Amino acid sequence: MCGIVGFIGNQNAKEIILNGLTRLEYRGYDSAGLSLFNNRYQIFDVYKDEGRVQKLIDSTLNAPFSNIGIGHTRWATHGKVNQENSHPHYSQTRRFIIVHNGVIENYQQLKDQYLSKSNFTSDTDTEVIAQLIETFAQTLHVENAITTTLKLLHGSYALLVLDSNDPEKIYAAKYKSPLIVGHSESGITIASDLMALVGYSDTYHALEDKSFVVARREDVKIFNLDHVPLDIKFKPIELDDSDTTKGDYPHYMMKEIHEQPSVIRRIITNYYDKEQSLIKPEILSVMRDSDRIYILAAGTSMHAGLVGKQLIERLTSIPVEVHIASEFAYQNPLISKNPLFILVTQSGETADLRACLVSINERNYRSLTITNVPTSTLAREATYFLELYAGPEIAVASTKAYVAQVSVLAILAYELSTKSFDLKKEMSIAATSMEHFLESEKILDIVRLFLTRRNCFFIGRGLDYCVGLEAALKLKEISYIQTEGFAAGELKHGTIALIEDGTPVIALISDPKINGNTRSNLKEVQSRGAYTFHIVTESCKRDGDEVILEDVHPLLTPLVMVVPTQLIAYYAALERSYDIDKPRNLAKSVTVE
Ligand code: G6P
Repeated sequence: MCGIVGFIGNQNAKEIILNGLTRLEYRGYDSAGLSLFNNRYQIFDVYKDEGRVQKLIDSTLNAPFSNIGIGHTRWATHGKVNQENSHPHYSQTRRFIIVHNGVIENYQQLKDQYLSKSNFTSDTDTEVIAQLIETFAQTLHVENAITTTLKLLHGSYALLVLDSNDPEKIYAAKYKSPLIVGHSESGITIASDLMALVGYSDTYHALEDKSFVVARREDVKIFNLDHVPLDIKFKPIELDDSDTTKGDYPHYMMKEIHEQPSVIRRIITNYYDKEQSLIKPEILSVMRDSDRIYILAAGTSMHAGLVGKQLIERLTSIPVEVHIASEFAYQNPLISKNPLFILVTQSGETADLRACLVSINERNYRSLTITNVPTSTLAREATYFLELYAGPEIAVASTKAYVAQVSVLAILAYELSTKSFDLKKEMSIAATSMEHFLESEKILDIVRLFLTRRNCFFIGRGLDYCVGLEAALKLKEISYIQTEGFAAGELKHGTIALIEDGTPVIALISDPKINGNTRSNLKEVQSRGAYTFHIVTESCKRDGDEVILEDVHPLLTPLVMVVPTQLIAYYAALERSYDIDKPRNLAKSVTVE
């Protein structure tokens, strides 16, 4: 959460930072701010306010040229959404200007212990960092003042610091929150996500925790907190503009929904060389040898994990438990003798999952992170990691990452099985069937018919139930319609009391064996006035069904069944004129617990 971008070099820092912030806005959009050096007055100007990056772009139109600056887009944690709490923050004399992503857990204690005489202008934990640096800089060299401060902080941070006494440097540091240094002939860009560097840097280096960076126009040096130099390994940036822009689509979410077939194909290409799986044999043997697999995840990724459990248990004899990360982290559940932990995460930065991984590592258990971001914290800190190859997912509501997660979990399950079918072929069929549906979908017409209500249900059994949970999350997160995903057979045990005249109930039916059972549940709600709507596969279709999808392998139905539900969410939000890519109160990468 929160996006930060800094630039120093021989170009217009404002343009690079504002473009970067626009691309990082998915990380939080409560406020946006920027600090640029004003050569005339020899000070750093600060522009900041609540609201979106566009507002910042408008308010900085006439800002003078600066070759150095830092910017921030905020997802509020400490203090209300207002101008005062927006970043950048400054120290008392305004000597130091900083932007911060993360949470300083001991900020109150630090304030009481070191800063009782300082005046504060915000309610944020961040301002404490700026004030501490200034306090220590009264007696220490600035670099020591910063590292002394860093050593006192408990919590997480990605930080950029400017010193008005030396406008030729940006200082940066990281612990738990991501930070990446980009390099090109024209300068150094430092940002929370690779996407902000595209077009401005040729190579990048993902910082390790407790790194301290001194960036100048012509070079960058990285140290640990004791000022011992660290190696820098710049790698080429392989993303391009098409990965970070909407192209011809009206929203990133629509673009990402349409990319799903190609994501499946990309996964096949990256995971197989002809018939040979490219997964490290060690990962498969650790999975095979484990007596229980624990899948840990949050949100959409947890829903993909629920599908993964069914796939692994149907294709192997390894029992699988799925846990919500924030619950698992602090509940000390009983663990089997020889477990493997699989962390499923689009961003690889979710703090709830990191809390789990810290305790998994402390107990010397093995772990596998499945993530879209190979440079992420959870990829680096797990024993093994596998990449999702979904490409950058920018819409806050996750779509293609879910499909990628289900696909990778399917490959893992299959590689541990007796391989009684051809998974690659079946995944390709699923990708093609998705495309066929997307070419001719008429979901908007259907949504217009009945989604004017304030609540909605998705029901299904087995894998369709898992998809129903994800469908409900998608609809509520972007259309704000109160939605529940329910096991079709369970609805009658209480929740059916909520069904009224016209309540929408959307049934997902892809398994012919339980088609009749779910149809009976539909009758139960219809007779109580529900407006029902059916998403089914060809082999389950009956007269009157609204959406019929081509049949795919029975274990891969979640890949195709989820697509109409994503579109239902999309169009419901569109009909209400909501901000589809940036729904209220949310952020894509949740780096606070
Ligand atoms: C946030 C996002 C969700 C996402 C969840 C887990 O809440 O809004 O879309 O599913 O975090 O994120 P992860 O990056 O771990 O998959």
